[in-house]
Amino acid sequence: RTPVAILLSGRGSNATALIRAAQDPAFPARICLVLSNRPQAPGLDVARAAGLPTLAIDHRPYGKDRAAHERAMHAALEEAGAQAVCLAGYMRLLTPFLTQAWAGRMLNIHPSLLPSFPGLHTHERALEAGVRVHGCTVHLVTEGMDEGPILGQAAVPVLAGDTAETLAARVLRQEHQLYPQALLHFLTNHPPCASSADALLVA
Ligand code: GAR
Repeated sequence: RTPVAILLSGRGSNATALIRAAQDPAFPARICLVLSNRPQAPGLDVARAAGLPTLAIDHRPYGKDRAAHERAMHAALEEAGAQAVCLAGYMRLLTPFLTQAWAGRMLNIHPSLLPSFPGLHTHERALEAGVRVHGCTVHLVTEGMDEGPILGQAAVPVLAGDTAETLAARVLRQEHQLYPQALLHFLTNHPPCASSADALLVA
């Protein structure tokens, strides 16, 4: 099974869905680390309760030095033996250092049908735009925010009387289905190389 790390910043409901899926021995990923930039993130408690290794690397002491924070995150991911990374509500923009280090093996879930509504406040913006269909996307992470190749999507209707909260809840239920499915599909169809260094050794 491919060792996969989860990065999160908050609640961790998508992390919970991934952790549950990976509790099935037939699932092609095992969660090797749950890593957060916020020491108080509830998602870390969920992971600890599941008996998984967790780590918080607080971004605040690094101030504006995003690169140094990302180097520490990257070292922790390598140390844990991660071969792929799932961003699950990781709410910091990544620099090219981390996106390039994990190119082709870092996934993200975003609460809209990309390429519509990249960025924040997706449910409010979907309501303002008057779309009738909304949803969520799992995609590979590239340098551009919410721009990488799409691995999977799930759609929900926008209903009369929806608020951002009711719409978000409808989308979130789909996120929890979609993310494990997309990871399963990704690992089954495109198992990531261990790392470029290992690939060179194998060659
Ligand atoms: C999820 O809705 C996820 O799609 C979104 O944050 C939420 C995290 O919830 N991610 C983004 O907006 C990324 N730009 P969770 O912590 O309960 O999984």
